[in-house]
Amino acid sequence: MMYKIALLEGDGIGPAVIDEGVKVLNALEKKFGYKFEYERALIGGCAYDDCGKPLPESTISIAKDADAVYLGAVGDWKYDTLPAELRPEKALLGIRKALNLFANLRPAIVFDELLDASTLKPEVVKGVDIMMIRELTGDVYFGQPRGIETINGERAGFNNMIYFEKEIERIAHVAFQTAMKRKKKVCSVDKANVLDSSRLWREVVTNVSNQYPDVELSHMYVDNAAMQLIRNPKQFDVIVTGNIFGDILSDEASMLSGSLGMLASASLSNNTKGMYEPIHGSAPDLKGKNIVNPIATILSAALMLRYSFGNDFAASQIENAVKSVLKKGYRTPDINYGDTSKTSLVGTTGMGDLISNEILSL
Ligand code: IPM
Ligand code: MG
Repeated sequence: MMYKIALLEGDGIGPAVIDEGVKVLNALEKKFGYKFEYERALIGGCAYDDCGKPLPESTISIAKDADAVYLGAVGDWKYDTLPAELRPEKALLGIRKALNLFANLRPAIVFDELLDASTLKPEVVKGVDIMMIRELTGDVYFGQPRGIETINGERAGFNNMIYFEKEIERIAHVAFQTAMKRKKKVCSVDKANVLDSSRLWREVVTNVSNQYPDVELSHMYVDNAAMQLIRNPKQFDVIVTGNIFGDILSDEASMLSGSLGMLASASLSNNTKGMYEPIHGSAPDLKGKNIVNPIATILSAALMLRYSFGNDFAASQIENAVKSVLKKGYRTPDINYGDTSKTSLVGTTGMGDLISNEILSL
């Protein structure tokens, strides 16, 4: 079986972390005989430099043509002064919409080996395993009308927080189906005490839950959820929420694990096509230093194998290799906390080599 992967390395440290992900996929090819075929395309600032657009048509068609998209990161401060339409971030929103990637899965898992890397007490974070499911193509991110206009002689900026029933329904199904394979708990996060969009959200999620009698559904206001996530994160299994709340809560959840450098993400449609990327950004200041943690990107490859290629076995090979390299004490600087006399500091490429070799030797 041959899988076609669109490689969108992007800006900053994007290319460096994707290199390590590909290294790990190469190890899987070598060991188990899978075939991955790559096609590279530009996205973000590098695409703007190349052709004046952060998301060229050719990139969209390469992404549409592939079985899965593997993305590094986009953005650099040097593009901060560009008009909104030309900024690298716009490309990310554009490709999510173009591929209809409405479901964003961001697992927040705390590895026992990294308990000391979290800013929270070890007993609070030990064993945390949350699947954050964020709706990705609706809400105030895409709602119309939007803009900056002069109203009554004064400029006003506005966006529309709007959810259609069908958008809520389909993400709710993803949440309940995901929970069925886990601890069968869904917490839906909204602001139904204030927002109409959230009142509909809550009603629709509740209706969909009737089709999943085995799953326990709870509702939580977003301000409370932000608090509960750091107070007692172990109460959560699957969290489902809208685009803007999910953006904020998923960054918060990522810190439970100690480092943004550890967390992978999958953005899925209603077929097996998906886009896989680390949740961290392009960190232009760290570019070329060989110090960033490639594990988030490597774990994103595991999600790609699981969700797009239906290969749980290969996915767990990667996950086990990561665990075992951490267990042996290897750390990139972002996760090198606790008793550092027992750890060995490695760089980006070193970590990629270790994980690949682990796969080859498992
Ligand atoms: C994310 C990022 C993006 C978002 C930005 C870069 C557009 O923060 O993927 O969480 O807001 O969705
Ligand atoms: Mg974000």
